Parts: sequence; structure tokens; C-alpha cells
Amino acid sequence: MSAIQYDLGSDQILTLTIDMPGQSANTMNGEFRTALTETVNKVKSDLNNVKGIIIASAKKSFFAGGDLNELYSVTREQAKEFEDMVNGLKADMRALETCGKPVVAAINGTALGGGLELALACHYRVAIDDDRTQLGLPEVTLGLLPGGGGTQRLPRMIGLEAAFPFLMEGKKINPKAALKAGIVNELASSPEDMIAKARAFIEANPKCQQPWDQKGFKFPGGAPHHPAMAQKLAIAPAMLRQKTKGCYPAPERILAAAVEGAQVDFDNGSLIETRYFAELATGQVAKNMTGTFWFQLNAIKAGGSRPDGVEKETFKKVGVLGAGMMGAGIAYSTASRGIEVVLKDVSVENAEKGKRYSENLLTKKVSRGRMTEAQKDEVLARIKATASADDLEGCDLIIEAVFEDSDLKAKVTQEAEPKMAANGIFASNTSTIPITQLAQASAKPDNFIGLHFFSPVDKMQLVEIIVGEKTSDDTLARAFDYVQQIGKIPIVVNDSRGFFTSRVFGTFVNEGISMLAEGIHPSSIENAGLLAGMPVGPLAISDEVSMTLMQHIRAQSRKDTEAAGGTWQPHPAEAVIDAMVDTHNRKGKAAGAGFYEYPEKGKKYLWPELENLFVDQAKARSVQLQDLKDRILFIQAIETIRCLEEGVLRTVEDANIGSIFGIGYAPWTGGAIQFVNQYGVRAFAERAQQLADQYGERFAPPALLMGKAENNETFS
Ligand code: NAI
Repeated sequence: MSAIQYDLGSDQILTLTIDMPGQSANTMNGEFRTALTETVNKVKSDLNNVKGIIIASAKKSFFAGGDLNELYSVTREQAKEFEDMVNGLKADMRALETCGKPVVAAINGTALGGGLELALACHYRVAIDDDRTQLGLPEVTLGLLPGGGGTQRLPRMIGLEAAFPFLMEGKKINPKAALKAGIVNELASSPEDMIAKARAFIEANPKCQQPWDQKGFKFPGGAPHHPAMAQKLAIAPAMLRQKTKGCYPAPERILAAAVEGAQVDFDNGSLIETRYFAELATGQVAKNMTGTFWFQLNAIKAGGSRPDGVEKETFKKVGVLGAGMMGAGIAYSTASRGIEVVLKDVSVENAEKGKRYSENLLTKKVSRGRMTEAQKDEVLARIKATASADDLEGCDLIIEAVFEDSDLKAKVTQEAEPKMAANGIFASNTSTIPITQLAQASAKPDNFIGLHFFSPVDKMQLVEIIVGEKTSDDTLARAFDYVQQIGKIPIVVNDSRGFFTSRVFGTFVNEGISMLAEGIHPSSIENAGLLAGMPVGPLAISDEVSMTLMQHIRAQSRKDTEAAGGTWQPHPAEAVIDAMVDTHNRKGKAAGAGFYEYPEKGKKYLWPELENLFVDQAKARSVQLQDLKDRILFIQAIETIRCLEEGVLRTVEDANIGSIFGIGYAPWTGGAIQFVNQYGVRAFAERAQQLADQYGERFAPPALLMGKAENNETFS
């Protein structure tokens, strides 16, 4: 069976239905390309009998896009071959576009990447109006470029500026928004209506040509040489570089392909696009990003570290203890996914305040047209704000998010547990206290687990599931199901102080502060953090976390280390933190003063006095930026390896995904362990040893790394 069904009706309307055999969605793989070439040849020979063409899909979605397996495996050496293959595919799409007869895309569901590009090559697009349908070109989020004509057709269709968010940020929209943006031409209410509208277009337009193939074509919104546009485009690369910090080649190549392509005719533009596409697809950043954001993320979604053999659970009623910042966010994320929530605090006022957090977020959604008033009311009706533990009766899951105090946590656990359903799970959202320790207060420690959410809960996709000594596999599997049910990404870690994410995050912050202790200029430190690809510099983030909290966590770790018979190894950052808090009373952002000044009006800026207190001018001048960047990326990668070595982390997928989504580890690397693999395990171990010799034992390569380096293995 061909991947494209060819059905020429008696009314001379040709329907090409894409239906890739054995696949749940259509992708642009070798099989599709062969089928397309055959189809195009057949169309050419039948053309006199064809009035118009409808391109449709037999799947639930229209077309998923390029074949990432294929893209992932293409090597640098195969770049030329790859270019030829892409140009061949595009020539077939172009042959349909220029056949003279009307070609209509019947978009029955989601069309992404190559799928939307196929639709853009049609003269008319009718889409079924369904909010679940997504249209977009997400290639950039995987370090790639829309190489199926997207960088050429979309700007010619809606203008360069309007196309940029789709091309360079991977913005996805529903059919209604696509109609408004000029990406689809008409909405349909049902599959039948869609086909009827496609036919009507064909009947009304016996001859068709794309605007860009017509004489005197004018670029919508201005061509690149139009004075106003030229002015904007002149500064665009610099603005983009400020955002990408030079770590992400894709947005820059997309901009180049669109702008250069806009200055030549369509066919030459298409060739320019392919050249940039091949460069990106065969480059390392796309491999890192595709590997992690696609293959590893999908492995987690398909079950990841969830134990096998436990039946999947659907949660119906969840209790949340504590309606503060975290509890309110957890309640919102849970109720938004159709689950009943009991939000309990010490008073009804507190609980209602927590519920209002959801109300505010939902109101914003309504005002942006992303939800109706009735849908908002439905979500809110699912949240019961209360001060009574009796309302927790029958909960399948209770999540505790009260103050970070073990005694209080023990008290609320004992109060709430008896109310849970017989097989209910009790979870703590603690950020620092070991789960095994908290489970001591539980009557059912095998049903006790950690669910570490990140702030702000509605935006942060990751949840770190922490397995205590007594947590059962059954509890772990069901906690995993809950995290997936609310649409978040679960990684699973074994109990450890700071678990995985806070532990690695701490090394980043401390490394930045220890640079200050060495006399390096604070602006060089912040710059190095950003250039390494971290979202915020280490000094700014210290202010966000608050240095008093850092002192508190350190004191607790020291106490535990010594209680366990260990010796505390002071970190060079400690003296700076103590001086900032104890001598200068600069505790961080919440206190209004930290490494930064926070003026009432205007932007924060680095506290000028840091220069006199810490900076060693000779050192500040001689420091190598690459050295600082390496330290930031290496210290976190080394701590991640330690987490694997100690069994805190169970899989490389959890390590990579957790490091990016939980810590903000530079996405271009594909995650902390992918960074090591890509650097070369042996080369990484050697560089770590150099850093250890120069800056301290914290960089010493762990035994697991040395073993892999000696055996020439990568982490997999
Ligand atoms: P918060 O101070 O905003 O809220 C705590 C809430 O617990 C308050 O509303 C308080 O009234 C309530 N509460 C106190 N005793 C209670 C009781 N007996 N029954 C019911 N409610 C009670 O604190 P936040 O930031 O929401 O943190 C909560 C937990 O989440 C802590 O364990 C914290 O370590 C953890 N966490 C915090 C993160 C953050 O970024 N703030 C991130 C991840 C975890």
C-alpha cells in the first residue's frame, strides 16, 4: 500500500490521502518521499483530467513533520547527500505548487514542521476548527530549521516580521489563531464541511498560482530592501545574538535563510534554506537538542523510571496541605487537569487566598481567549478551600506543602493520613528534608513519597519524584501516573540531601560565588553564567534564593555530615556568603539588598561595593572567560555524575531532562550528561582533573567517570 492514496473522482477532483502504513502519524521519511515522487509523476500524466487536488490525511492529525530518527542519524560527512535529498523532496512539493491547478490542504488536525510546510505549499488551506489542533514550525526548539520551504513561504505569505515568532521561536497556534494570522484561509466545522469547502475553492479557481509566482509580487509587510524593513533587519542579528548568547545556531540561521531568501526568487531562496538546514541538521547542537528534547523526553513520557507491572492509576481526588505559594500552584495544576482538589490550610481565609491564585491565573486565560468563562468556573468548582481535615476523606493522594519544618510536617502527616483512601499515597513537597526521615511520621511509610515541584508550579514542567528507603514500587508507579496526569514531566531519584536538582543547582551557585572569593569581577562571573547558557547568572540567582537560606541549608548539611561521622569540607563560597549576610547585612532580593542593588524604580544592578570588597584587579584582568564558562558547566556535570554513581539518579534520561527542566542547565548541551558525552568522556575527565589541580578537589573526576574514560565508553 502506498503512503499516499490516489483517488481521482468522476468530478475530476483528485484526493491525495496521506496514510503512512504502520504509523500513528504521518512523517516525512524515505517511504513518504518515494510515494510523493510517484504521486507527482502520476499527477503530471493525469493533469489534463484533473480539475484540482485536495491533500488530506487518514490519521487523527494532518501531518507530524520531519522524521527525527532520520535527521538525528545524518552525519557531517553526509551533508551533501542530505541536501540533495531535501532538495528532491522540495522539488516534488514545488511541482504540485506550480502545476497550474488549485491544490488545497484539508487540515483535519495538528500540522507541525514539515506537515505545515506541505500545507503552505498548497494554494489554499481549510482547517477544522478544533482547539486541540496545533499548527506551527517547532524545528527551532530542536536546534533545526523549517527546511521544507517554511522559511521561504511563510514570510512571503504573512510578511517577514509576522513570520519570525513562528520560525525563530517555534510558536504554535490553533486554527482560529492561524486564520487570524493568515496561515489558514478558512475554518470548517467538520470533516465533511472541510472537504466541501476545499471542493468549492477548486470549483471557483480553475487556475491557481502562488502570489510569489506571479509577476509584480509584493512582499507583505515590506521586502528586506524596503527602508523601514532594512532598518529593522540591520539590528536583528545583534538582538538575536543577545538572546542566544551565541549558544544556539538555529535562530541565527533561520533569520539568515528568511532574509537572504527574501532577496532572491522563490526557487533560489529554497536552495539557500536547504544549505542552512543541512548545516544545522548535521551540527552538534541539533543532535544534543533532538536527542534530549525528543528521544529522551519521549522515553520518559513512555514510562521512564516508572516500575513495570503496576496498573496505571487515574487520580480523582487530591488533597493539598498548605495553600501557600507551592500549595496554591499544585492545586491549580491539579484542578486544571480535571481532578478534584481539597486545599487545606490553617484557616479558611488562607485556603481561600490559595484558591484565588487559581482564579487569577484562570481569569488571565479567559482574557487572552484561551479559555471560556464556563471552563474557568468548572476548574474553580473543583477546588474546595477548607481548614478542616475531614474534607480530605477519600483522597487518592495527599500532597503536603506546609512550611519547611520537620515537626510541622510530621504533625500534618499524622492528621491527614487516616482520612486518605485505603490505598492512598502521601507525598511531601519538601525541598530539602530527606524523605526517609519524613516518612518516620507516617503510619504507612511504603505509601510515602516525595513530589518535588518547582516554582512557579503552573509554568515549571518538571516534578522530581523522590523515593524513600521504604517507598514501595507500587507507590512510585502511581506517583508517576499522577505527575503525568497533570501534564508534567516526572524524573525519579533516590533519597539524598538536596535530592538531585537542588544538589546540582547548589554547585552552580557556589561556583559563581567562589569566583568572587578569588577576586574575579562580578560582572565577568554573571556574564560567564549567561554565556555558558544558564538562564540567570549565579550571583543574581543567589539573591533570588536568599543567602540566609543558603546559610541555613549549609548548617543543616554540616550537622548531618558530622553526625554521620564525616568531616565537613568548607567551600570557598562560604566566607563570601557569611560576609554578605553577617557583616554587610545583604541577604538577597527579598531583603532588598544582596549582590545586587534593587532600586525602587528601574533595573537591579550589581552592588558597586563588591569591587572594593572582593575584586583583585590583576586577577580580574587576567581571567579567561572560557575557564569561567567551563567551571560553571563542569561543576554541575561532575555533581550529576556523582548522583549517578551514588544511585541517586537511576537513568541518563532523568539526568539530562532533570538538569535542563529543573536547574536550567544550558539546553544547547542536551543536558549535563550529554555535555560530558559530547565533550568526549576522556577529554572531559582530563579537563576536570586540570580544574581540580587549579581550583580544588570539588572538580576531581569521580570514579564512574574515570572508569568510563579508561574503557572509552560514553554514558548511555
Ligand atoms: P509558604 O510559606 O508560601 O506556604 C506554606 C503554607 O502552609 C502557608 O499558607 C501556611 O499557612 C500553611 N500551613 C502551615 N501550617 C499548616 C497546617 N498545619 N495545615 C495546613 N497548612 C499549614 O511556603 P511554600 O513556599 O509554599 O513552601 C511549602 C513547601 O514547599 C516547603 O516545604 C518548601 O520547602 C517546599 N518547596 C518550596 C519551593 C519554593 O520555591 N518556595 C520549591 C519546592 C518546594
